[in-house]
Amino acid sequence: MRIAVVGGTGFIGSRLVERLRKAGHEVSAHARNTGLDLLTGEGLPGAVEGAEVVVDTIDAPSFDAAATPFFRTTTRNLLDAAGQAGVGHVVLLSIVGIDRVPQVDYYRAKVAQEDEVKAGPVPYSIVRATQFMEFVPKIMEWTADGDTVRLPTTPLQPVAADEVVEALADVAAGAPLSGTDGTDGTDGTLDVAGPDVLPLDELGRLTLDARPDGRRVVVDESAGLFAAVVGDAVTAPPGARLGRVHYTDLL
Ligand SMILES: NC(=O)c1ccc[n+]([C@@H]2O[C@H](COP(=O)([O-])OP(=O)(O)OC[C@H]3O[C@@H](n4cnc5c(N)ncnc54)[C@H](OP(=O)(O)O)[C@@H]3O)[C@@H](O)[C@H]2O)c1
Repeated sequence: MRIAVVGGTGFIGSRLVERLRKAGHEVSAHARNTGLDLLTGEGLPGAVEGAEVVVDTIDAPSFDAAATPFFRTTTRNLLDAAGQAGVGHVVLLSIVGIDRVPQVDYYRAKVAQEDEVKAGPVPYSIVRATQFMEFVPKIMEWTADGDTVRLPTTPLQPVAADEVVEALADVAAGAPLSGTDGTDGTDGTLDVAGPDVLPLDELGRLTLDARPDGRRVVVDESAGLFAAVVGDAVTAPPGARLGRVHYTDLL
């Protein structure tokens, strides 16, 4: 199939491009350094011309309220161009449970991005992943100070990036999920998660046990973005596609 990956130079996008090419698809990768700026529309419609499927793995430059207009504009520009080019399927990478955490600016922005895809002219699939395992050290940096890392006990269900890529590749090669009940009851959505639910403070401890650097985890229920998550809002709903890689395997 002819597949265009926007955000195709990023952490997930570049892995997806490689996987799709290995599977024999004709893949183009797009980002600002290849001449596509979805915010201004520069590089459109050329980036999506001739594509049967477009996968959107771009990210916003910041996690604050500015992410909402960024995702609205970029997604609208992409969907307009894809519609005009006759693209048959748009796949969006999103995040599990975002609609259940409206107090987080970035999650509201991702809901807005999903809404733009749903309102657009192209059949779609939304792949909602939990936190990437590779992202845990970055989460720890947000609230690290000297020899302590403050983390709340929020339950997460992290997934290996390669297993997110595998799910995206499968979805991209299949029929659009829109019009079918999603795994969390949302139209056209597939939820993807790792095999284990672990509190974030425990994920921090496992990380520092495997890679000791003199720091230790201190439980702080008010620390960082995940402090705002209530209960198991960002763990996998029933029916999600679960990976096989455990966090300790990855470490
Ligand atoms: N981190 C997690 O645990 C997690 C979990 C679930 C889902 N997600 C979602 O996964 C997605 C991808 O994350 P990632 O870590 O792979 O992101 P990333 O590494 O930051 O990659 C983002 C990509 O988007 C491109 N991009 C940014 N602004 C652009 C613009 N205006 N026009 C065109 N391309 C643009 C970037 O290239 P240039 O900067 O060169 O343009 C890059 O190729 C995000 O939407 C995120 O919400 C993340």
